[in-house]
Amino acid sequence: MASTWDSFERYKQRGLDARRAGQWDSAKVYLLEAARSMIELSKAAGTEDLRQARRDTAERLYELAKDCDDAKAKNRKAPSSPGRRPQSTEPAEPGEAQATDWVVKEKPKVRFADIAGLEDVKEEIRLKMVYPFEHPELAEQFGIKAGGGILLYGPPGTGKTMLARATAGELDATFFRVSAADVLSKWVGEAEQNIKKLFDAAASEPRSIVFIDEIESLIPARRDDGGGVMQRVIPQVLQGMEGFDKSTKSRVLFLGATNVPWQLDPAVLRPGRFDEKVYVPLPDLAARAKMLELYLANRPLADDVDLATLAVQLDGYSGADIKHLCDRAALVPFLQAAKGGKAGVITPAILTDAIADSPPSVTNEMTKRFDQWAAETRA
Ligand SMILES: Nc1ncnc2c1ncn2[C@@H]1O[C@H](COP(=O)(O)OP(=O)(O)OP(=O)(O)O)[C@@H](O)[C@H]1O
Ligand SMILES: [Mg+2]
Repeated sequence: MASTWDSFERYKQRGLDARRAGQWDSAKVYLLEAARSMIELSKAAGTEDLRQARRDTAERLYELAKDCDDAKAKNRKAPSSPGRRPQSTEPAEPGEAQATDWVVKEKPKVRFADIAGLEDVKEEIRLKMVYPFEHPELAEQFGIKAGGGILLYGPPGTGKTMLARATAGELDATFFRVSAADVLSKWVGEAEQNIKKLFDAAASEPRSIVFIDEIESLIPARRDDGGGVMQRVIPQVLQGMEGFDKSTKSRVLFLGATNVPWQLDPAVLRPGRFDEKVYVPLPDLAARAKMLELYLANRPLADDVDLATLAVQLDGYSGADIKHLCDRAALVPFLQAAKGGKAGVITPAILTDAIADSPPSVTNEMTKRFDQWAAETRA
């Protein structure tokens, strides 16, 4: 098999070099040869996972080869001409895209204290991530598992993305957010290099959190071109996560989020991957009261607004719904004043109107479906 590997490497390298030089004909020949070698290697793989990963690599090489035909037909210039960003229809060249092109990197200031409610969820994240991360020696001594990933799931607007950022805030870690949309548009072609860059960038920070948002979009049915890309990218991300897991010194944590967990490929939930699942539900009464406090208390508010009653009324509303409703209510007196009227306040009537205009975005059926999924996967 060693010689097959050698020829695969050689053909792939030549193919990519030729592509970079805009020599489409020879690039195509080399890439097809590389794909053929990879198919041979996939037959020799010991496990189904590995077989699949190699078939995916081969498929990717076929796509690149096909793209050479398109490029030639359109008389396209060499792909690495300066100043151009990779487009979804044109694979990026190896080494061309910087991690910063397709990943949001930040040091979030938001903390758990800024998130209303979800005390159980915060405590689970503390137990599984924060404490082991901050006290690695203790975790090792007591055999507490560190690493792996946590999957946050729950209805839209319940604070999953906010929680992920706040986890980074709690740990003073650098936060890398990878969104499905970015993956689709920017990882095409050189996914492996890009993922490696992401992991290298994360590993080069003293502490980091890699957050994969809308993780279900990364594992779609094999349908269109985008699907093809994902089929290659995701096994690599997941295998990379396992790699991080094995080195206990790793200071990189993984968080994922989804609001359609039942669409996830079971491969995502395997041990060493997103094996800890945490349900992020709609806010309870206390959380809704806290949100109203957060989003109304600092605004000009009529004395007769009763936040406690309002919180009862907003049963079934998500955090995002409540924030939206408060923003909307604040707009009324603001516009009045901005148009030269008397500076008013947010009144109970304005709030009642705002509630009437914005029904909760999460239906009972959706909530039931989450409860059911939560019960099933816990079993
Ligand atoms: N528990 C909460 N406390 C305070 N604000 C919240 C909370 N939940 C949601 N919000 C508000 O709603 C906004 C949207 O929340 P976020 O984006 O975190 O939801 P999400 O669960 O990631 O939604 P989606 O599933 O649609 O991605 C937040 O930026 C915040 O303003
Ligand atoms: Mg989100």
